[in-house]
Amino acid sequence: MIIASTHDFRAAAKARLPRFLFDYADGGAYAEATLAANVNDLAGIALRQRVLRDVSAIDLSTTLFGAKRPLPIALGPIGIGGMFRRRGETQAARAAHARGIPFTLSTVGICSMNEVRGASKDGPTWFQLYVIRDRAFMRDLIDTAKAAGAEALVFTVDMPVPGARYRDAHSGMSGPRAPLRRVLQAIGKPGWAWDVGIRGRPHRLGNLEPVLGAASGLNDYMGWLGSNFDPSIAWKDLDWIRAAWDGPLIIKGILDPDDARAAADIGADGIVVSNHGGRQLDGVLSSTRVLPAIAEVVRGRLTVLADSGIRSGLDVVRMLALGADGVLLGRAWLYALAANGEAGVSLLLDLIEKEMRVAMALTGVRSIAEIDRSILV
Ligand code: FNR
Repeated sequence: MIIASTHDFRAAAKARLPRFLFDYADGGAYAEATLAANVNDLAGIALRQRVLRDVSAIDLSTTLFGAKRPLPIALGPIGIGGMFRRRGETQAARAAHARGIPFTLSTVGICSMNEVRGASKDGPTWFQLYVIRDRAFMRDLIDTAKAAGAEALVFTVDMPVPGARYRDAHSGMSGPRAPLRRVLQAIGKPGWAWDVGIRGRPHRLGNLEPVLGAASGLNDYMGWLGSNFDPSIAWKDLDWIRAAWDGPLIIKGILDPDDARAAADIGADGIVVSNHGGRQLDGVLSSTRVLPAIAEVVRGRLTVLADSGIRSGLDVVRMLALGADGVLLGRAWLYALAANGEAGVSLLLDLIEKEMRVAMALTGVRSIAEIDRSILV
């Protein structure tokens, strides 16, 4: 298959993965209206073409949380990403680190923080933390991330309860006879079954294994999320996290200007404007639509990252023009990983970089700092 875009990576991922994994990655909450809006609203942001402005030298580098980066991009957290290729988080981290960009490891990754750090020669790794009922356990996770050398803590706040994802019930990710259905699907995808099903063991949630032991297996992954996430968390509870983590603290899952202001007030260094890729509350606005108002109220107080719906370098430039300082990739890197492992993620980053260069050349800007609303119609 010829791969020239995220669209192609998605098709290749679909061909290779058992249905339960493809639908888990590709699907969203309820009727998937927000998932569709994320992609469509971004695609609808019209760029203003400018010509004859000497764009012979284009610089894509930027500074995020005090570190100079060659691209304004990080790979975002993906739960059980390690099931999409053998020890998948290590492969994606290596591809990100070869480009000098951060990889974010999910609380519910397959590989542990230490495995990822060991495999990728200490490139920039961010750790994503969920709100777990057992606060001592959260504290342990923060300490382990710190000891392993995580550069930033990404604290995800938009999952006090998991969203209802209809596709998961149908696919075998959850629902009746789910384990049996998953085995039957795996038999139909021998490439994946050999690479991940057999050689990619252990299939455990690596960061949770020290506490959960054998219960860190994937039999009831969604069930575990539902019973261990804590809906009682409130802004005041973030004080101890701020005190426990002295590096950059990034609050992920902000969709409202008042919440963005609250994140700045508790001393966060950054936010991710995100609706979790349309996987939580269907019907909320796309990141594209809320980003300008949020960027406006917190400008100069913290770093604004954005995700949800980014499928190309053009989309990255659009998010920057709408007020983001940088972006997280989600499904885009997951499809690439599933399609071709580390090489797939590397190719994706090449494609995105090239597309960003074209978008900048044809909107007449030479640096990331020059990208603003003036390049939009
Ligand atoms: C996610 N996302 C996510 N976010 C998070 O904070 N922790 C996690 O463990 C996960 N897990 C996860 C699994 C899968 C399969 C997907 C697709 C997404 C959300 C993710 O970090 C990001 O916000 C979205 O993926 C962005 O939307 P797009 O770009 O994928 O449309």
